[in-house]
Amino acid sequence: MKNFHKNIIILASGNGSNAINIINNFSSANSSVSKISIKALVCNNPDAPIIDKVKNMYADINLYCLPFKKAAERTLFEKGLTEIINKYKIDYIILAGFMKILSNDFVLKNLNKIINIHPSLLPAFKGTQAIKDAFDYGVKVTGVTIHFVIPEIDSGPIILQEPVFIEEYDTIETLEEKIHKLEHKMYIKVLELISCGKLKIADNRVKIF
Ligand code: GAR
Repeated sequence: MKNFHKNIIILASGNGSNAINIINNFSSANSSVSKISIKALVCNNPDAPIIDKVKNMYADINLYCLPFKKAAERTLFEKGLTEIINKYKIDYIILAGFMKILSNDFVLKNLNKIINIHPSLLPAFKGTQAIKDAFDYGVKVTGVTIHFVIPEIDSGPIILQEPVFIEEYDTIETLEEKIHKLEHKMYIKVLELISCGKLKIADNRVKIF
């Protein structure tokens, strides 16, 4: 029987609700039979709320803060990140609210290993303000996309995509709430697919079998 056990690392930049949700679902404390091992959480922003949350509530998670706010810090960040990836033999790099752009070189070296979540139905509303942009535009349907990362920003083979309807009574706050709730559900689903070896990329498309 094949062993599908996967080591993952989570990258986050801010609040970290997606990161916390993944930890709650897959940390060894909560699941002794999990096929997903969270080897570390890496934050690029020393002021991010996620840092204190992990320190206070998840002392068993290896937490790394590698400063990367300015573009000039990217090389050092990626060097540190690569060391962590090698140290823990990481299979998948999970971007969970990671708001910086990784270099083409890093992405190409880790092709088909980096997964991102984006709060819109890509290719619509790329960028760092997707929820607000969709709301301001007045679209009736937006959603969430989870995809493999390629050098082109907010692009790459789509793993899972689900819609969120914007009703007349929605505000930006209620829309954000709906999107985050869906994101949490979807990231777990994708990680479960990975842990069962059910994802394959062929011809630039993700197949779930
Ligand atoms: C999430 O909505 C995520 O999709 C988005 O940032 C938020 C982070 O929330 N990511 C992007 O916009 C990436 N381009 P969280 O810190 O509470 O997980």
